[in-house]
Amino acid sequence: MLSMIRLNDVRLAYSAAGKQVPVLDGASLEVDAGASVAIVGPSGSGKTSLLLVLTGLEAPDSGQVILRDQELSALDADTRADLRRQHIGIVFQSFHLIPSLTARENVALPLDIAGEIGGRDKAASMLDRVGLGHRLDHYPNALSGGERQRVAIARALVHEPALIVADEPTGNLDGATGAAVADLLFELNAQTSATLVLVTHDPALAARCQRQVTLQSGRLIS
Ligand SMILES: Nc1ncnc2c1ncn2[C@@H]1O[C@H](COP(=O)(O)OP(=O)(O)OP(=O)(O)O)[C@@H](O)[C@H]1O
Ligand SMILES: [Mg+2]
Repeated sequence: MLSMIRLNDVRLAYSAAGKQVPVLDGASLEVDAGASVAIVGPSGSGKTSLLLVLTGLEAPDSGQVILRDQELSALDADTRADLRRQHIGIVFQSFHLIPSLTARENVALPLDIAGEIGGRDKAASMLDRVGLGHRLDHYPNALSGGERQRVAIARALVHEPALIVADEPTGNLDGATGAAVADLLFELNAQTSATLVLVTHDPALAARCQRQVTLQSGRLIS
């Protein structure tokens, strides 16, 4: 099986008040292409930090992060950013929408940056799939928290990335909307063989993944 992402003995500590606080302490994980994995663990256990390392947004203090066959630490920041743009869709806990762009423009942005044509139509169709077809021209500050979350999800998925990394994708959504967003993620997993790495506190969402790993004391336990 082709490996999509591999973490080898990753360590990461933050310095706070002059002290080094270890967050990842020998974390290892291998995710096959096309697989789905839920990462669970209590608040503060390091799940978001793990996703930052896994997507090359944060460099670990030691250990390797290998995306397909490329070790991220061996690449310069621009090459890492290119890899991310091409192959990874990231849904953060905070949505990072651009306030001066409408929902549709926010979603079309990754396609515009990549120089793809038809971004407006693709963005509209992806927003429709997350139930926001009637909010295309709204600005983020005129959207509810759950609507913003769905715009962020549409933006992360619009270029059909090979790897989808999502931090609590259904966290701010009501049951029905959350289920629709989860359905969309698993549809892309089935239709485009996108690999899914989801952080979630929701046992029902975790149970839909092929595999669940727990982050505990800085390590991943199956
Ligand atoms: N930039 C930072 N500087 C210092 N400490 C940090 C930083 N970011 C996170 N931490 C600390 O690292 C630990 C892990 O944080 P992280 O955000 O990865 O947890 P989490 O598992 O995602 O939690 P939650 O479920 O609440 O989102 C926490 O104790 C947090 O306070
Ligand atoms: Mg978090």
